[in-house]
Amino acid sequence: MAILVCGGAGFIGSHFVEFLLEQGEAVVVVDNLATGHRASLPEGPFYQLSLADKASLAEIFREHDIEAVVHFAAFSLVGESMDQPLKYFENNVCATNALLQVMIEAGCDKLIFSSTAAVYGEAGEALIRETDPTRPTNAYGESKLMMEKIIDWAARSSDLRYIALRYFNVAGASAGGRIGEDHRPETHLIPLAIKAALNDQPIKLFGDDYPTPDGTCIRDYIHVQDLVAAHYLALNALRDGAASDTFNLGYGRGYSVRQILEAVEAVAKRPLRIVRAPRRAGDPARLVASADKIKQALGWKPRHDDLNDIILSAYRWFEANPKGYPHD
Ligand code: UFG
Repeated sequence: MAILVCGGAGFIGSHFVEFLLEQGEAVVVVDNLATGHRASLPEGPFYQLSLADKASLAEIFREHDIEAVVHFAAFSLVGESMDQPLKYFENNVCATNALLQVMIEAGCDKLIFSSTAAVYGEAGEALIRETDPTRPTNAYGESKLMMEKIIDWAARSSDLRYIALRYFNVAGASAGGRIGEDHRPETHLIPLAIKAALNDQPIKLFGDDYPTPDGTCIRDYIHVQDLVAAHYLALNALRDGAASDTFNLGYGRGYSVRQILEAVEAVAKRPLRIVRAPRRAGDPARLVASADKIKQALGWKPRHDDLNDIILSAYRWFEANPKGYPHD
């Protein structure tokens, strides 16, 4: 029996593949390499494939005894999704529909789905709970919300059970230093700030007039290692017969953009050249998780929730891999 990891060559997917292999699990990876890197994966079954290619996907289910699917494959840039929403709906929503059809036809009944805090949209001061209203402010979040709903409808009409994990802001790198974050283009705050520090380049601060204490956006940054550990708990819960459910994944504490930039300066031991820039379209002011539900239901315990550890692990990866992964 094997776990099929869709999008396993991406930042989070590759960290989950490494984690699964460390647990002694058999893994099959599918990734179209639109944004992922072959070099992020160790030896093992790998198929370069779009999930929309149902015939090839069905062949993989026939060839390997796929017990469960963990679905990371998606475009995930908030800004790009505002300029090209249809690209997001096609790639994220349509491909998930195809994956579900193939899974159900193959009798595969367990799915872990990578969702996002972006499904909530503009939230208030309080920690965000899973029962809060979902009103995405960007097309990326809307596409993930649609995917959640499609999965839920599929589960209602079949044996499929799923766990959807709504990630807040994922950062950091694996402890071993073999893999890290390599987005092209990079748009995320922590990697951009680290690269700016390492290369003595300016870093833009998008908006300092938000209704927050220092005027900059607040996010809940979670270490990728804690995030992938939660996926494994979710997988084992489904194996033990858990019902379908949805969980937030964050630490329940927020840092502002300015606080993150200060933390990067401390790790890099040099000042950043911060350039104030207008707000970025689609950015909510504050997104901080309540993680109570996953702690109670799955026994998830954060182990890497020190902000400096998150930034330091990412810093070490960028320092050792200034050009990211070798070309695929
Ligand atoms: N920011 C800057 N300068 C930069 C880059 C980002 O000021 O150069 C700011 C952004 O405006 C935002 C904050 O830093 O206020 C964090 O931005 P990121 O791009 O790092 O992360 P996002 O919060 O936009 O997005 C992340 C994930 C998405 C997910 C979203 C949920 O990447 O997949 O969290 O809100 F949907």
